[in-house]
Amino acid sequence: MYDTLKNDKENVEHLIREFYTLSVKYLKEANSRKVGILQPKFEKGFLPHDGKGFLKALELFKQKFEPYMSGSSSSKYFGFVTGGTTPASLLGDWITSLYDQNVANLGESCSADITIETLNQLKELFELDDNFEGIFTSGATMSNFVALATARQWFGKYFGINVAIEGLCKIPKKLSVLSATPHSSIYKSLSMLGLGKDSVELIETKKDAEAISLSDLESALKRQNGTPCVVVANAGTVNTVDFDDIQEIAKLKERYNFWLHVDAAFGGFAKCSPKYKYLVEGLEKADSITIDAHKWLNVPYDSAMSFTKHLSLQFEVFQNSAAYLQQNFSNDNFVHLTPENSQRLRALPVWFSLNAYGYKGYREIVERNCALAQEISLKIQNSEDFLLLSPVKLNGVCFTLNKKDIDMQAINSYIKRVNEKGKIFITPTVYKTKPALRISITNWQTQGEDIEIAYEALVGAL
Ligand SMILES: Cc1ncc(COP(=O)(O)O)c(C=O)c1O
Repeated sequence: MYDTLKNDKENVEHLIREFYTLSVKYLKEANSRKVGILQPKFEKGFLPHDGKGFLKALELFKQKFEPYMSGSSSSKYFGFVTGGTTPASLLGDWITSLYDQNVANLGESCSADITIETLNQLKELFELDDNFEGIFTSGATMSNFVALATARQWFGKYFGINVAIEGLCKIPKKLSVLSATPHSSIYKSLSMLGLGKDSVELIETKKDAEAISLSDLESALKRQNGTPCVVVANAGTVNTVDFDDIQEIAKLKERYNFWLHVDAAFGGFAKCSPKYKYLVEGLEKADSITIDAHKWLNVPYDSAMSFTKHLSLQFEVFQNSAAYLQQNFSNDNFVHLTPENSQRLRALPVWFSLNAYGYKGYREIVERNCALAQEISLKIQNSEDFLLLSPVKLNGVCFTLNKKDIDMQAINSYIKRVNEKGKIFITPTVYKTKPALRISITNWQTQGEDIEIAYEALVGAL
């Protein structure tokens, strides 16, 4: 064995102690660390000929990169829809690496059982019945990809074609994907699937909203003339956190032939609260659902779920056979249900967090985050310097600067001023052609005092 490798193996306890010191220091300081950090130009790091062992690599990391790691998992990071990591999910993630199980290998460990148990617990959390089966993916983008790949298989079947075997070229019609405010990952997925980004048919929204207009959706469904299509309903748009009326969309299924996919990447967590679950009423009527775990479940990247009512079609798409692999083609052999073959035991950090905090823990996080979103939106609404662009429905606030002719350049330079102080981190957007700002409150640690600091930072950068 190579010297330093042998040395690391023999001194593993000491290495873990050093890692422990780093971890505790980070966790204690996380909420006061700079949230967004401008990156310097790093010198190129060449591959060392002689490795010097973990401790030397750790020293190098601490010197070169550690000061520039942002506090993105902390209480004052409001960019994108970024969650943090609960203590149980973080430790569960380390335990995942410790055991390093491959979920693809059924029969050699309990990793598939853990995955199934966790997915069942998640189905309870999101009130999905046993008609749904789930898998873990690396993120909502991949969950959308899996759902659309399965919908593509369903579409092919209508024409008597098995797309997984025969490809798309024999299908006489184009698959239309109807949606009002799809997340960019829907386009990316369609590109990866050979369906093309142009297959999205954008439907009008309701007035002053991002939610779909049901009458326009129905007209578009009529125009399909009986050809099956996909409807992507959005449960939590990234700009204003708006929700399509899933219940009403699902009713259209009685008259039109479409696959209903719900992108509930973060909006699905409305189910955790009796106060907000009306926003996702009808979720169980979907054919497939995307929900992210690395957003509001507050588990480390990368983790999301894809739920489907059509596991056998999903199985046809992702089935993978090779003589050296198990020929167990059962529905719980994840190698045949997911884009990856070998795969990390992504369920375990989720399992730890669900079992550590339960329904009540998640309800509290969701309700606290939403109350804080209301709190900061009130401050924004009452200020002459800002303009709230949409009422707050859940955990996101969309607003802009209350100035004449505000353009993207002005927004970007304002955001730069806010973010470079490192107190909070926010991101820009465009809402109905208006350059805008957004705050997403998704972190389990965020409290009222963080909102005070956030508002001060917004005012301070005017
Ligand atoms: C509604 C929605 N769908 C999909 C995604 C993509 O998620 P991921 O970055 O986990 O792939 C996001 C991310 O913000 C989202 O908000």
